[in-house]
Amino acid sequence: MSHYSSEKVLDALNKAMHESLIESENDSNFIRRVYNGGDLDKYRSRIYSIGFSSLKSPVLDAGSGYGQWSIVLSELNDSVIGIDADIERLKIAKNIAAQLKIENLNFVDSNMNIDKFDDEFFGAIFCYNSIMLSAWKDTLSSFYRVLSKGGLLYFNAYDIGWMIHNIIQPNNPALDFDPCKWSIETIQNTILYLTTNNFNQKTFKDGMFIPISALERDLEAIGFESFSIAGEGLTRVNPDSVELPFYPHKLYGQIASYEVLARK
Ligand SMILES: C[S@@+](CC[C@H](N)C(=O)[O-])C[C@H]1O[C@@H](n2cnc3c(N)ncnc32)[C@H](O)[C@@H]1O
Repeated sequence: MSHYSSEKVLDALNKAMHESLIESENDSNFIRRVYNGGDLDKYRSRIYSIGFSSLKSPVLDAGSGYGQWSIVLSELNDSVIGIDADIERLKIAKNIAAQLKIENLNFVDSNMNIDKFDDEFFGAIFCYNSIMLSAWKDTLSSFYRVLSKGGLLYFNAYDIGWMIHNIIQPNNPALDFDPCKWSIETIQNTILYLTTNNFNQKTFKDGMFIPISALERDLEAIGFESFSIAGEGLTRVNPDSVELPFYPHKLYGQIASYEVLARK
């Protein structure tokens, strides 16, 4: 399997950005930030740490965004499908994958409910910074349905500490993105969802945080055989891997971010 060099990835990114003309400052900062100058090593480390390598059955990258995780997953596994509901992001991800001539990676326009795939189709599901942008209880049920018996699910989520942090000290603001306003809306969405089960997503940036206590109840109720919850970036299935968190686990004495590794 190929390992795409930083130079090739950066060239592909620049060309894809040039061809798509991203208008939003927030989106343009975001894609530059996640592609990290073309150096995808930190994503390779994480995928290796959580044991998502050498898998034979298809791996799903749910909420694949601009596709950097999908690319790395395709380097380390037999086949990968990235899904996202944002057509513009999918186009850019497809463009980059085509330039890199990746043959075992496809991108599909799909909501997180993934009704386009059969039961037990995927051997593993990876979902980074995305489950929170959906009615996550329904999404977990969908993940369970399309995951094969014994298959692995990895996702991360924010908890209340990240919201407080963004109100006090806004993270990555842009002309068209106010992290303080986003946090307040996210808290409102969360309260509404936890009390009524309603999540009316108007844009693909609207989301929630997920309190760990609520999540644990749901993972059990849906039927996952086992699961572990750790600070984001701290799960190490492969013991020779390194801890490389992208977010603090706790802020202001509250959980800020965490990750889950569950088995069906
Ligand atoms: C914060 S981005 C993360 C993207 C990527 N996983 C990463 O780590 O860079 C969240 C992604 O989820 C997508 N998304 C939001 N709501 C969605 C939904 N209901 N169904 C599918 N994708 C959704 C967005 O379009 C966006 O690309």
